[in-house]
Amino acid sequence: MQDQVSICVIGSGYVGLVAAACFAEMGHRVLCVDNDEARVKTLREGGVPIYEDHLPELLARHRGGGVEFTTDLGGAVEASEAIFIAVGTPQGDAGAADLSFVEAVVSEIARHINNYKVIVEKSTVPVYTNEWIQRVLRRHGVDPQNFDVVSNPEFLREGTAVIDFMHPDRIVVGAGTERAANLVRRIYEPLVGGSYYGQPGALPGALSAARPAKLLITSAQSSELIKHASNAFLALKISFINAVANLAEAVDADIEDIAAGLGLDRRIGPGFLHAGLGYGGSCFPKDVAAFHWVAQQRGVNFELLQEVRKINEKQKDIFFNKVLSALWTLPGKRLAALGLAFKGNTDDIRESPAIEIIKRLLEAGAMVAAYDPAAMERAKSVLPPSAKLRYAAGVYEAAKGADAVLILTDWKEFAEIDLVRLNDAVRFPIVIDGRNLYKPQQMLDHGFTYVSVGRPASYQAQQGKPRSGVL
Ligand code: UGA
Repeated sequence: MQDQVSICVIGSGYVGLVAAACFAEMGHRVLCVDNDEARVKTLREGGVPIYEDHLPELLARHRGGGVEFTTDLGGAVEASEAIFIAVGTPQGDAGAADLSFVEAVVSEIARHINNYKVIVEKSTVPVYTNEWIQRVLRRHGVDPQNFDVVSNPEFLREGTAVIDFMHPDRIVVGAGTERAANLVRRIYEPLVGGSYYGQPGALPGALSAARPAKLLITSAQSSELIKHASNAFLALKISFINAVANLAEAVDADIEDIAAGLGLDRRIGPGFLHAGLGYGGSCFPKDVAAFHWVAQQRGVNFELLQEVRKINEKQKDIFFNKVLSALWTLPGKRLAALGLAFKGNTDDIRESPAIEIIKRLLEAGAMVAAYDPAAMERAKSVLPPSAKLRYAAGVYEAAKGADAVLILTDWKEFAEIDLVRLNDAVRFPIVIDGRNLYKPQQMLDHGFTYVSVGRPASYQAQQGKPRSGVL
């Protein structure tokens, strides 16, 4: 018999909505709260406000049953044993995370604690936030016997968040008391005990009943640091490979071969060694800055993180200069920009290197035709269509008459372009690839001059454009 826990998730953003749907999938009863009435209405009526694989399927399965949406925070808190806080923690001044949403939510939770509750930090927060939440609850007069605060960071990647949730590499629980740790253990039991994986309709992934999820119990501070340290380490891996890519370019080596050679060492591992335009998104830039800020506050020298950030910024300058040196001058040049999202398989454009590069190209006088399979609507809010910027319906339409095609996001669709058709569409066959989606020889064979990251550029010897494009 499934041990059902009543859960309240506050926040229906990427983290909150995925957590709510996944807890329902694990058999719990979930109330997902948001103060945005329009969003709650959309969610109740069957809409899915974010682009995330498997999320529509899970919401369709559990909406109105295991998961309900509400704006009534008080009622949801009163009805729940565990309250997950999944609100935004944007970057504030001097790199510190802005915790005002967390504080506002905690003050409201305080007014509705009617019996013992476990309050769980799911949002990415700096170390000692747990301590602060406890302090705020006590200040509001909540009896310390009536709550515990637990840190349970998420390690979800946008685009694969649902599978990452149901098949996690690890579940980290930072709890100060056995009572609180036990409640969180009960919540994750279907994954840790493995019963979920044997269930009909279970989402397939890396884990199974025989190889279930691992749960690690730590102190709250350790758990908070695990989250920041994990994101900072992944960002460091990316900056490291980008720095090596720049060196590889300077000595005519190939970063793809180097990354393969490095990644085969089990101690290093192959993940997060893709050189390119650098990392973006709502997590890495913010978390690297916040982690550095935390270290500074404690008087700990962690300048390494500043270097990680600087290398990441520089990658965009380097790419911009590649465009410039391939085209000589930019005013009036027609560029096809493939990609707007900060990475493939998401519609999220926060801190997207693609958006920043397009802005700079427009400022430099270029005319841009942009295309992204999912992020165009969101992009229009920061890059409105204009005489210099148009949004295209597809890759080949964007490439029509282009002086060069730029690949800015690693969408699968962009790795599978029909190169003959592309060559037919463009004015000049030049591809500048910020995500290394092609092999230089393949591009050369299709008549393109090809500039990528950390690999020698391959220039078409031929002047002008071969009409058929194929050899
Ligand atoms: C990241 C972490 O991977 C998650 O574990 C974490 O939970 C999440 O942040 C968070 O803190 O909420 P996400 O931002 O969705 O997830 O995206 P990633 O897939 O990690 O990619 C981040 C950026 O790094 C993207 O811009 C991507 O293009 C870039 N990247 C990634 C590279 O440039 N090279 C790589 O090898 C890998």
